[in-house]
Amino acid sequence: VRHLLGIKDITPADIQLIFETADNFKEVLNRPIKKVPSLRDITIANVFFENSTRTRLSFELAQKRLSADIVNFSASGSSVKKGETLLDTVNNILAMKVDMIVMRHASAGAPHFLSKHIKANIVNAGDGTHEHPTQALLDAFSIRERLGEVAGKKVAIIGDILHSRVALSNIFALQKLGAEVMVCGPVTLLPRYISALGVKVELNVRKALEWCDVANVLRIQLERQQMKYFPSLREYTLYYGINKKLLDSLDKEIVIMHPGPINRGVELSSDAADSKQAIILNQVENGVAIRMAVLYLLASQV
Ligand code: CP
Repeated sequence: VRHLLGIKDITPADIQLIFETADNFKEVLNRPIKKVPSLRDITIANVFFENSTRTRLSFELAQKRLSADIVNFSASGSSVKKGETLLDTVNNILAMKVDMIVMRHASAGAPHFLSKHIKANIVNAGDGTHEHPTQALLDAFSIRERLGEVAGKKVAIIGDILHSRVALSNIFALQKLGAEVMVCGPVTLLPRYISALGVKVELNVRKALEWCDVANVLRIQLERQQMKYFPSLREYTLYYGINKKLLDSLDKEIVIMHPGPINRGVELSSDAADSKQAIILNQVENGVAIRMAVLYLLASQV
């Protein structure tokens, strides 16, 4: 595998290899000296056409821990604003002897397009509403860490499924690892093709929480909504908001996840997000080890 474009394209064995490699890097990250020389001769460009906090910083830290040389590109402030195309932009970056591209783009399929036209390895750091493969890997890795294994676990993905690349990549990853997956949200925020993916569909959030071992809570992606969707944020919170009172009323303690950024008080209350059953910051911590593993394994394919 030369690229990581999506979870759809990789096998359960690939995911297990990434997890085992991430286990080793997580052990390294807990040492006083966190740096290894593995990618000393590799140069990586982080090419971000969309905003990011977690993904961008954790890729950058992963690259630094692996001793890679890195350059960071943001579309804002670049010659993209003068009309330069995606392919010209990336080819100009590659002309500076860059080996690998980590790219986030607002258009679904942008990294797949690039992979057909350039020789460097590409890692998809999120393409529109399509896939966010490293997020799904770190999510599944975090479930494995908290519950021992992913196989056989019931995971409910709750929220704006229609606009979420995290949802699609999570569905692929969790199914490949043997979990049962449910999606839950207002019918207006569920894609029409969702049942074809072999997931359970539930419109009632309480029923979803009663069913699952893990709830992966997603935000309402207002920036991707072309029109005024039902429900409004206030209605969403009323019918789908998850708070500690609701969690405490269940007859079991489920694990709460969120890929971030959280809209506190909308999809998740602060008392739920900051509770001991939430592993949201563990997900962020695991993102560095997972991204080290992905970069390390792809670099051997340069
Ligand atoms: N989870 C995630 O992709 O967060 P960022 O948009 O901050 O990278």
